[in-house]
Amino acid sequence: MLAYRHLFHAGGYADVFKHALLAQLVLCLKAKVKPFLYLDTHAGAGLYDLAHPWARKNREYLGGIARIRERADAPPALAPYLHAVHTANPDGRLRRYPGSPLIVRALIRGNDRMALTELNRTDCESLAALFSGDRRVQVRLMDGFDALKAFLPPRERRGLVLIDSSFDRAREFDRVKRAFAQAHRRFATGVHALWYPHIGEPVIAALERGIAATGMRKVLQLDLAVRARHTGAGLAGCGMLIANPPFGFEATARSLLQWLWPALSPEGEGSWRARWLVPE
Ligand SMILES: C[S@@+](CC[C@H](N)C(=O)[O-])C[C@H]1O[C@@H](n2cnc3c(N)ncnc32)[C@H](O)[C@@H]1O
Repeated sequence: MLAYRHLFHAGGYADVFKHALLAQLVLCLKAKVKPFLYLDTHAGAGLYDLAHPWARKNREYLGGIARIRERADAPPALAPYLHAVHTANPDGRLRRYPGSPLIVRALIRGNDRMALTELNRTDCESLAALFSGDRRVQVRLMDGFDALKAFLPPRERRGLVLIDSSFDRAREFDRVKRAFAQAHRRFATGVHALWYPHIGEPVIAALERGIAATGMRKVLQLDLAVRARHTGAGLAGCGMLIANPPFGFEATARSLLQWLWPALSPEGEGSWRARWLVPE
């Protein structure tokens, strides 16, 4: 239980995919003046030292953030995400990678709030230290699935929920599917994002069927793969389900993925996809 440590994967292509989309979701929410809550149920450590032996084991960041960070032709929609990465590396050298909580904090306003839950004690302590003194941010050592009950619906009646499990337990696909539906039930007008790894077509197909069967409407599905199939070399691809994506998000997400896929898969392996799993 909890053998997973995100430091081994920090800044890899899956993080780039997830965090570039996350930054866009936050930007879309900021289009309205009313404040919102960002709930990150599986928040991780917040900031990752890419010189650490765990990060250097497979150097996943070389196939991710290192490939795109200095591209002169990066689309404007990538700018908020890249800004957060640059903020974590003020001297310009890529030494640290910001996780989802720091990426979101770089973008929120003075009256927006963040709730971050993490079950690994060490990572949660790092997270708490990183955000100490920031009154907008609550950090809790707790199960992210319980966090849905504790924090939803938010008092602002506006919000973004990220469910970003480490998928290191049996039946985790079932668990995240139920959590996604539960989050939506508790807070039907919220924006809900669920990240998932491509670990085999039958598993993904079951997730898709399960979500469609909940009766939720307006679920956008985005996928990015950098290898044709799952091998010992690592995860072939990953995806995100987004319920109630804000106005304008779909078009931006498509343009982002159209640029990101060849940038992250220079050999042209894999593919990207954007579709409505469940339309309005
Ligand atoms: C993929 S990582 C999170 C990465 C982070 N969201 C980011 O994008 O930077 C998943 C995290 O979930 C934590 N975790 C696993 N099961 C959990 C649970 N039931 N509740 C809360 N955290 C959990 C793991 O310790 C790990 O830090």
